[in-house]
Amino acid sequence: MVSSTTTPDPPAIRLDGVSFSYGRVLALDNVSFSLHPGELAYLVGPSAAGKTTVLRLLHGQLKPQRGSLIVDGQELGRARARKLRRVRHRVGVIFQDYRLLRRLTAAENVAYTLRVVDLWLPRREALSRANAALEAVGLSERANSFPHQLSGGQQQRLAIARAIAAAPTVLLADEPTASLDSVEARRVLALFELAASGGTAVLVATHNAEEVARSHRRVIGLSDGRVAWDRVLSRSA
Ligand SMILES: Nc1ncnc2c1ncn2[C@@H]1O[C@H](COP(=O)(O)OP(=O)(O)OP(=O)(O)O)[C@@H](O)[C@H]1O
Ligand SMILES: [Mg+2]
Repeated sequence: MVSSTTTPDPPAIRLDGVSFSYGRVLALDNVSFSLHPGELAYLVGPSAAGKTTVLRLLHGQLKPQRGSLIVDGQELGRARARKLRRVRHRVGVIFQDYRLLRRLTAAENVAYTLRVVDLWLPRREALSRANAALEAVGLSERANSFPHQLSGGQQQRLAIARAIAAAPTVLLADEPTASLDSVEARRVLALFELAASGGTAVLVATHNAEEVARSHRRVIGLSDGRVAWDRVLSRSA
């Protein structure tokens, strides 16, 4: 069939009626939303609303008990281990506790992840791409520092460099600015904007109402495991 209108890109992320329980605790109840390539959205809601659970599902760490979950064109609920691994390589994730490798320098941390994603990538090439990613987050001069030699904000930027180095389809961040001062927080959010402008779908879970209000971006509000609202904050708000 020939259509005169252009078809929009398929979503990078799509949750459709997703429910998830930890034992008897219903963490997500019939959650649906999608995110397109290049779109940045904040996932907000009070503690225990289910934000981290959404991110863990999207990263393939948990499987939904109901509903469908598509990431980068793959249905995750039914994906086998190998396919799941391939999808996870297209998803950059920034955990709240950074999860940096202590015995590796900043550049080696990024290079290590690049070589997990691409087993054939030569070490030198990985290090050169790692250095480019460190430059993008303003950490060039700390490439040879170990994580414990970096400030909290610098560690967070290193975690971002690691997550964006392989140009992921989807970038997930859990409370990425929680322990940062406002200058560092703004810097980190600018990096997410940059990733989105490069075509990555970015989902940021946060408590920080102020930074969300300032962003004029789409905001998905979770409450008791449900999507309570989903809207773009207008510039005049
Ligand atoms: N491993 C787990 N085992 C049992 N229950 C869990 C587990 N992880 C989360 N939960 C429960 O699932 C619900 C959603 O938790 P989740 O961590 O997704 O919330 P959150 O919105 O990220 O909260 P916060 O803002 O405090 O990080 C909560 O009721 C929580 O107690
Ligand atoms: Mg959480």
